[in-house]
Amino acid sequence: MKVLRFSDVVASGFAAGKRVFIRADLNVPQDDSGAITEDTRIRASVPCIQMALDAGAAVMVTSHLGRPTEGDFKPEDSLAPVAKRLGELLGREVPVIANWVDGVTVAPGQLVLLENCRVNKGEKKNNEDLAKKMAALCDIFVNDAFGTAHRAEGTTYGIAQFAPIACAGPLLATEIDAITKALAHPKRPLVAIVAGSKVSTKLTILKSLSANVDQLIVGGGIANTFMLAAGLKIGKSLAEADLVGEAKAVIEAMKARGADVPIPTDVVTAKEFKADAKAEIKAATDVADDDLILDIGPETAKRLAAQLMKAGTIVWNGPVGVFEFAAFENGTKVIAQAIAQSDAFSIAGGGDTLAAIAKYGIEKDVGYISTGGGAFLEVLEGKTLPALEILTKRAAG
Ligand code: 3PG
Repeated sequence: MKVLRFSDVVASGFAAGKRVFIRADLNVPQDDSGAITEDTRIRASVPCIQMALDAGAAVMVTSHLGRPTEGDFKPEDSLAPVAKRLGELLGREVPVIANWVDGVTVAPGQLVLLENCRVNKGEKKNNEDLAKKMAALCDIFVNDAFGTAHRAEGTTYGIAQFAPIACAGPLLATEIDAITKALAHPKRPLVAIVAGSKVSTKLTILKSLSANVDQLIVGGGIANTFMLAAGLKIGKSLAEADLVGEAKAVIEAMKARGADVPIPTDVVTAKEFKADAKAEIKAATDVADDDLILDIGPETAKRLAAQLMKAGTIVWNGPVGVFEFAAFENGTKVIAQAIAQSDAFSIAGGGDTLAAIAKYGIEKDVGYISTGGGAFLEVLEGKTLPALEILTKRAAG
């Protein structure tokens, strides 16, 4: 996928003195008082902003925060807490500008944060008039919002259609590079771990990956449905009996290519879903009618870890057990440690996966951690992200 990169625009000297409009994804979690509880996306957005400032541009940055009602700005929708954190990271004041669609005053070397773009009427539905007005604010539009790249909205799509120049910021470009390396040109064997509560939410991902990966490791409720498909009993564990046929189809598709969906051979069960429930390790063939499977067993974890150690590329989405409970965290911990130790290029994404990575302190050992939630999943589904599609079109002229 060929897109123009902001770094190349800057290197050509073209950005100096120009009005640069950066769409970032600064949609960070906040507590009830509005305090930011996790600032990864803000930190990840700094290099693009710094690049624009260093180039001598007049810099406007915007993002959405949450899902506000268009045309009805409420104090809790404000990017003010984000501006404060961004200011700390950049070591400068970051003023927040409201009602900015019809004009922004910003001089070269200055930086302003344009208030929550989803409050503007027409943003969600990518209204053309809004897109044209926003495009008129700048000489260069930079999309650096990978987390929102699966949305065709005013600031992710429309503005890119009409801005004089539309390019990808360093975060977006790095995400594309990492994903291309993992999925389009992987060093093999390519192993994917897809886990989570339901097959239904990840069925398209499972199908898409089953055509590409050498091993598809399933975990959580998804693994339970695959165990049913393999003829195993799962007691009262979470599963989707109506999707057993789909799970069988995935297993068959993989087998036909000489690839494999490793089914757990042992599991950790409990009688109740509770942190202090008594954990029991048993063979996958011995699950009782009143058992809940809450993790893969140690033998399965060891076998999967050995496969991960031999992988060329690893894609990870979802913890394989209830890792929030100490008694049921072993599978996820072993998998995380194997990913950390493996020489494979690894890419991970999704909220729960990031929480597991943080819990086991392996941030530095994962090849690339995506800032995308929904966007990352859509890439795994094999979809083309609208924000990239328009940048590609613009690059093609
Ligand atoms: C996210 O948090 O995944 C992105 O910021 C996109 O947010 P959205 O799902 O509200 O579009």
